[in-house]
Amino acid sequence: MPLMEPYRIKVVEPIPITTPEDRHRWLAATGYNQFSLRSEQVTIDLLTDSGTGALSAAQQAVAAGADETYAGASSYYRFREVVSDLTGYNYIQPVHQGRAAERILFGSVLRPGMISVSNTHFDTTRANVELLGCVALDLPCEEAADLDSAEPFKGNIDLARLRQVLAGPDRPRIGQVLMTITNNGGGGQPVSMANIEAASRLCREHGVPFFLDAARFAENAWWVTQREPGYADWTPRQVAQRAFALADGCVASLKKDGIVHMGGLVAVNDPELAEQCEMLCIATEGFRTYGGLAGRDLEMLAQGLIEVTDPLYLRARADATRYLGSLAKAAGVSIVEPAGIHAIYLNAKRLLPHLTASQFPGHALACELYLQGGIRCVELGSLYLGTLNERGELQSGPPFELVRLAVPRRVYTQSHLEYVGEVLAQIAKHPERVPGYRMTHVPKLLRHFNCRLERMG
Ligand SMILES: Cc1ncc(COP(=O)(O)O)c(C=O)c1O
Repeated sequence: MPLMEPYRIKVVEPIPITTPEDRHRWLAATGYNQFSLRSEQVTIDLLTDSGTGALSAAQQAVAAGADETYAGASSYYRFREVVSDLTGYNYIQPVHQGRAAERILFGSVLRPGMISVSNTHFDTTRANVELLGCVALDLPCEEAADLDSAEPFKGNIDLARLRQVLAGPDRPRIGQVLMTITNNGGGGQPVSMANIEAASRLCREHGVPFFLDAARFAENAWWVTQREPGYADWTPRQVAQRAFALADGCVASLKKDGIVHMGGLVAVNDPELAEQCEMLCIATEGFRTYGGLAGRDLEMLAQGLIEVTDPLYLRARADATRYLGSLAKAAGVSIVEPAGIHAIYLNAKRLLPHLTASQFPGHALACELYLQGGIRCVELGSLYLGTLNERGELQSGPPFELVRLAVPRRVYTQSHLEYVGEVLAQIAKHPERVPGYRMTHVPKLLRHFNCRLERMG
């Protein structure tokens, strides 16, 4: 079937159409930091797919009937029933978003000095591990290092290294293995069922808890049905259920595949761990039957978690993101291959070879997308991941300079994506004109949110 969204639009919101002069003024005023822009200054917002999706009519309908009772709300029980059917876990705790789930689960599992092992910890995930005085160890598979290869499961964990770590002298310090599906920090690439199965088996053999960071569980399941031998006849829901069954529990930001604006969950099987998580949740998020969410959020989540595994929806989403990737490539901009489902990642290093890592080429490309087209996105390169001194000078950088264009769920149409492709083509005609940047304000923590920069040309 040709590319087509399996829904029509009933409610619309105007998007700001701005001038290049305005955009130059606004971005300069933020210190060239797009996190400080106001939404009315942005035409196409590809900063994140988190909490930015469009609700369905059915989600709005159930929200209207939500139960806002403090304890024991029927909306909680509906949410629990849907999550229980999907994950099979015994204990299900809603929380307000993914990082709260991380703090609660890791706070219950890890002790200072322990190691958390992952295919790749997402940034807040790493922060929550480190805040507990623990070490976050990433073991991405070797294939992930080749941005151009079309390997189908570049989000996998490196099983040989996982085996080594689990059998090595550090075993007593390993508190958990966390598999991020899909691997957001690793180019949005999926993880195969074979990899989840093998990691799960290794963890069982060594007595280490195995959890999923399941923010994009449905999108990962989609790729499994499309790419992994033996799963072509499975539904995405069945694949997701199998993945959950292989783990001892999960954390999830439901702002992604819950298709809501706010929400998350912790779910585990072990009753003692559940009790510990519940205590932390009540102390810091809210009572166990709402966990920081309103009844209407729980209702919309229950509905969203059913809609998100619809194969027609997932196919359209994968097609749209792949289409955006093909537009970027046609414009002469390389992307991390293969295109992800929640985002494409532009290879800024290749497009802007005249800029050194210390001039932040990823950030330069992200700024250019805004200046030329009002498109907001985020750098994943030296600015975000590099080691800088207190003057903002790069000491060591990551191997890649990427720019992530994240696609909100059910929000933008094909012509919006074509507009992004045109702006990319305009930039790619004269990449040598894109200037580098110098950092003028260097925050100690969470640099990318609050730093300020100036243009070097
Ligand atoms: C893989 C992954 N884990 C955790 C989080 C954190 O979730 P939240 O933003 O809801 O706190 C995110 C958010 O983007 C994510 O992509």
